[in-house]
Amino acid sequence: MAKRIQFSQTGGPDVLEYSDVLPEEPKAGEVRVRNHAVGLNFIDIYFRTGLYPAPGLPSGLGTEGAGIVDAVGEGVTHLKEGDRVAYAQGPLGAYAELHVLPADKAVKLPDAIEFETAAACMLKGLTVQYLLRQTYRLQKGETILFHAAAGGVGSIACQWAKALGVKLIGTVSSPEKAELAMKNGAWATIDYTKENVVERVRELTKGDMVPVVYDSVGKDTWETSLDCLQKRGLMVSFGNASGPVENVNIGILNQKGALYVTRPSLNGYADTRKRLETMCGELFEMLESGKIKVDIAQRYPLEKAGEAQEALASRKTTGSTVLVPSMQQDTQATQDADQSQDVQVPAEETPAAQDAGTSQDHGPENNQDQDPRA
Ligand SMILES: NC(=O)c1ccc[n+]([C@@H]2O[C@H](COP(=O)([O-])OP(=O)(O)OC[C@H]3O[C@@H](n4cnc5c(N)ncnc54)[C@H](OP(=O)(O)O)[C@@H]3O)[C@@H](O)[C@H]2O)c1
Repeated sequence: MAKRIQFSQTGGPDVLEYSDVLPEEPKAGEVRVRNHAVGLNFIDIYFRTGLYPAPGLPSGLGTEGAGIVDAVGEGVTHLKEGDRVAYAQGPLGAYAELHVLPADKAVKLPDAIEFETAAACMLKGLTVQYLLRQTYRLQKGETILFHAAAGGVGSIACQWAKALGVKLIGTVSSPEKAELAMKNGAWATIDYTKENVVERVRELTKGDMVPVVYDSVGKDTWETSLDCLQKRGLMVSFGNASGPVENVNIGILNQKGALYVTRPSLNGYADTRKRLETMCGELFEMLESGKIKVDIAQRYPLEKAGEAQEALASRKTTGSTVLVPSMQQDTQATQDADQSQDVQVPAEETPAAQDAGTSQDHGPENNQDQDPRA
């Protein structure tokens, strides 16, 4: 038997059950991965609550993980048993010791990238790749607004933007989160629970406003985000942390300056094997070069997935969170693992990216003027 988290009805974290299931055999074109680490993402909460419908109930949960291929279905040629892999788009069910997924969604992991790092950044890092490099191809010197800058996606975005020479203004909800975003390479932060975001963006950009806003908060920030854009600017609405944006009259895009809006997803960008490989290549290069260091600020044993989700939903987490399976196959071993589970919860780590904000070449380019961040 193998352990997995599943849910039979939508609702709060208490609907998540830690269950024993018979290991599934991979069918043609599939692989089974023995997860060493599983990524926690906001989208998992949308499925659990029913905001995004699961294909059927009971259902597994989670789409991101990293581990070792332990069984290979017919016709799979690019992976074999024993390969180290990571994935971010598997079918629901990654919150598990063993996960079966289409082989073309799993990529080989370079030796230098640890399982936990991969599980903490496949979905979030590939999302940042397409946001900053495809949805709007950022150019050096541009100033952008990125909401929830101290979160999982946001922490990677701060570092990637800095590496591109882009000035990222990040919104956050506390001084601690502001400090973290700055350490990760944000150019400036705004506490959107206290400050007027539009006015601060106007000050920071000296009236220019920004060409693109990346907004994963959704309902609460929709209109503010539009007001921060330049004429013909691009609103990238890519999440619903505060609830989905609904009932929009598209005339608002005209009223606020002939704006563009897009609602992208990872599956819309990594939609072919070739595109997935190209995006992973770029992400892995950023990791291996040290330009991006993944901050795993929380770890939970797999069976505490509900607790981990509650922390994420209530804005208590920073950076990435991983779930760690017991990695045991038989009952006896699982019992052993149960006894040791508490040692893993939750490990506070120094943000790995803390030295990422020290580069001197990222400050305001026109240093002769007064720094608008002051
Ligand atoms: N479309 C895609 O392809 C894609 C892929 C990955 C992730 N996403 C989206 O990106 C966002 C970030 O994902 P993540 O997993 O890295 O999560 P996260 O950013 O670590 O956590 C969400 C953050 O959103 C902020 N937030 C603002 N209002 C909130 C509210 N009412 N309730 C809860 N949080 C609120 C909080 O930061 P503050 O406390 O600083 O406000 C919170 O920490 C999510 O919306 C997710 O759905 C989209």
